[in-house]
Order: sequence, then structure tokens, then C-alpha cells
Amino acid sequence: MTEPRVLSGAPAAAHLLERAVSIMSTLPNKPHLHVIRLGEDPASVSYVRLKDQKALEIGMDSTVHALPENTLESELLTLISRLNRDPRASGILVQLPLPKHINESLVLEAVSPDKDVDGFHAVNVGKLWSGGEGLFPCTAAGIIEMCKFYGIALEGMSVVIVGRSNIVGKPLAALMLRENATVTVAHSRSKNLAEVTRGADVLVAAVGRAGLITPEMVREGAVIIDVGVNRVVLEGKNRLVGDVQKAAYARAGAYTPVPGGVGPLTVSHLLLNTAIAAQRLLEG
Ligand code: GUN
Repeated sequence: MTEPRVLSGAPAAAHLLERAVSIMSTLPNKPHLHVIRLGEDPASVSYVRLKDQKALEIGMDSTVHALPENTLESELLTLISRLNRDPRASGILVQLPLPKHINESLVLEAVSPDKDVDGFHAVNVGKLWSGGEGLFPCTAAGIIEMCKFYGIALEGMSVVIVGRSNIVGKPLAALMLRENATVTVAHSRSKNLAEVTRGADVLVAAVGRAGLITPEMVREGAVIIDVGVNRVVLEGKNRLVGDVQKAAYARAGAYTPVPGGVGPLTVSHLLLNTAIAAQRLLEG
């Protein structure tokens, strides 16, 4: 058996950033990304810092609104409304998860669809599924770009996505359909999961459970996209692992490692979305 190809995220992510920078070079002003975070969830703090740093690194303006955990829903809505009306604000992202006292869907729907760089607003979700142009969720869109970057054909392929979240699984299903893949979405209630996943030419694991995908669940030579980011303690050390067991990668034709696979694509696509949003806002 030949060694599987490792699909590293960094070069694909760099390619997306080049596209963002190229769009920015045509604009009269720098795009300005606004990220809103409530509370101090360590994963959210670290993700938001990364978004802010990368934005600044490529020459965008970036503001992080770090609000206390007990911020009122009405205060959050007021901030979003102010940013919606601010012509210099190009992109607005509300980091999830939100504290329990906040109605998440109310907040996501409050963001102007034209500035919704996460692609979570119902208008963008509708455009995603109906084939229109909009802003689409960053991890899912990043995965499609990564497949294109590495020359992984999707048309006519059997793509099995394990996980049905609004952030990854569902939008990826829509984007894969737009690429003419044959799409199956499996989840925690799916029967005979191994049988379903063994039918995959491209297997996407996006559940958030370490080791969920075992070697028996992978067809020999399949492409594995591992979206899981799970913090586990291994041999007394904190480690990041995906949803796919290491032994299962060995059966694949190609796979995305964790860390270093899909991860960098999310932030790069966010910045590409922000540049696109800034361009469209200018064009009206
Ligand atoms: N939390 C985990 N992933 C994401 C994401 O893509 N966007 C936002 N806003 N929050 C998240």
C-alpha cells in the first residue's frame, strides 16, 4: 500500500489569502472586520485572537469587541445595529457559542446579510442552497477550496459528511452539491454508520468526537477530510486530535492532518469573505 498523501492546510490557506489581498488592492479603503466575543471561553479567545492577528497581518483593519459574559442581549443587538449602519465596517462576526441567556438565532439574524462574513444569516443560507451568490460559511467553503487546490475531483463523487451542524456539516453538504458531488449527511442517529462511510470517495468527519472514525469505516484509497478539533490528554500532555483515528488515515489515499489541515482554511476564508463583502458594499 502506498503512503497516503498529506493535505496540509497552509499552502491552500495562503492561496486564499492571496485572493483576499488581490481584492483589497482594488479597494479605496482597507476592509474592516469586527469580531464580537462574549465571555472568556478559552477556545473562543484563541480563535478570535487568530482572526484578529491574521486580518492585521494581511493589511486589513480589525476590531475585537470583547464583551463580558453577562452582556445583555439588547446591548449586543445595539452594537450589531451600530456596525450594520457603519459604512466603514465591512464584516461582522459573532463568535459562537454565545452564553445561555442570549438567543443565538435572534443575534445571527440581526447581522446585515451583506456584512455576515460567517454566512450564518438566513438570507445567506437561502442563497447557499438555492445556488445564488452570497457569503458562505468559512470552514465549509475553505474545504471546497482545499479540494480544488489539491486537485481533488468532486463531480460525481460520493461525499459522505458525518456531522450536521449549521457551522460545517449542513453548509458543506450544500457546497458539495453545488460541485455536483453525490452527498450523504450522516449523524449521531444514523444506522449502520460504518456501512455508510465505507461508501465514501471523500469522507468528511465534522462531529467533534475524538476517534469516532475507525479504520473499518474507511474505504481503501478514500480522501479523508478531518474537521474535528478535540482537546485530549495523551501521555500526560494536552493534544489536539481530529475525529479520525490515526490508524484510519493509513487506509486513505489522502487526508488532512489535525492540527495543520482544515484549521488554517477557516480564518483565510473569513478574510476572503471580508474582502468580498467590502467590495460588494462599495459596488452597492
Ligand atoms: N465557533 C466555532 N466555529 C465558529 C465559526 O466558524 N464562526 C463563529 N462565529 N463561531 C464559531
